[in-house]
Amino acid sequence: MLDLTGKTALVTGAGSGMGQGIARQLASQGAHVVVNDIDADKARASAQQIVDDGGKASHSAWDVTDSAAVTSAIDGLCTTFAGIDILVNNVGNAGAVEMEQALFKDSLPDNWRKFIDVNLYGVMHCTHAVLPGMCERGWGRVITISSAAGRTGLNIGVSIYGAAKAGSINLMRHISQEVAQYGVTCNAIALGLMDTVPEEFAEHIIPSIPCGRLGTAADAGYMAGFLAAHEASWITGQLFCVDGGAAPY
Ligand SMILES: NC(=O)c1ccc[n+]([C@@H]2O[C@H](COP(=O)([O-])OP(=O)(O)OC[C@H]3O[C@@H](n4cnc5c(N)ncnc54)[C@H](O)[C@@H]3O)[C@@H](O)[C@H]2O)c1
Repeated sequence: MLDLTGKTALVTGAGSGMGQGIARQLASQGAHVVVNDIDADKARASAQQIVDDGGKASHSAWDVTDSAAVTSAIDGLCTTFAGIDILVNNVGNAGAVEMEQALFKDSLPDNWRKFIDVNLYGVMHCTHAVLPGMCERGWGRVITISSAAGRTGLNIGVSIYGAAKAGSINLMRHISQEVAQYGVTCNAIALGLMDTVPEEFAEHIIPSIPCGRLGTAADAGYMAGFLAAHEASWITGQLFCVDGGAAPY
């Protein structure tokens, strides 16, 4: 059940936070997990933790916004592992590193691009690099970590981030229609407020979460682990909210 033995998974930004939880979950289901992060030390340590826990993992450090670096690294990984079967596009800026917030009318155009680069171009680069191989082999899973900010309007100064996250959701929907015939599914997960955000930011919002707590990396991992599994082969083009009940619609 939910067994991923023999599959290779690449999780971006898995040196910490949600990505680390997702990587651990996929490894616990038997996949060999390639832990990507822009920070090589974090990637190495996260992969080592999986190995210490009895799982299979290696690390690969590069920046998802660098198209050439992504293509070259993923080509190399595909050769080493005979293809990437599962891609989790986890990198995004809304976690431990405090996100710059500004109302759109006050925002500086020079600051827009970095949100689009990480949260949308990063997803496009990685997905584009793995998809042909998945289609050729007739099996694949692409899972993109989006956000509540990508599906609803919020008055907290995250409009550009939200626009990029919304783009990543609809990118999955469109690609899902193109590749379903090859046995490749593409889905998105909209996370609510997770326990990587700064405490002072979280404390005002926790009372509005029906489950009464922040989400954890394990919560993100369970959903990704299910979508990655063989059992989820008839689920594609969908968005799943993992948010403690914060947005029940
Ligand atoms: N934390 C939240 O409350 C929350 C809410 C909704 C959605 N999300 C989404 O969940 C995902 C994970 O968030 P998190 O809270 O774990 O973030 P995090 O900041 O804790 O971790 C992100 C990891 O990605 C790495 N990284 C950053 N930029 C990179 C790049 N360009 N290339 C490769 N690696 C890079 C970082 O080094 C870090 O290890 C993101 O897509 C985020 O937008 C988070």
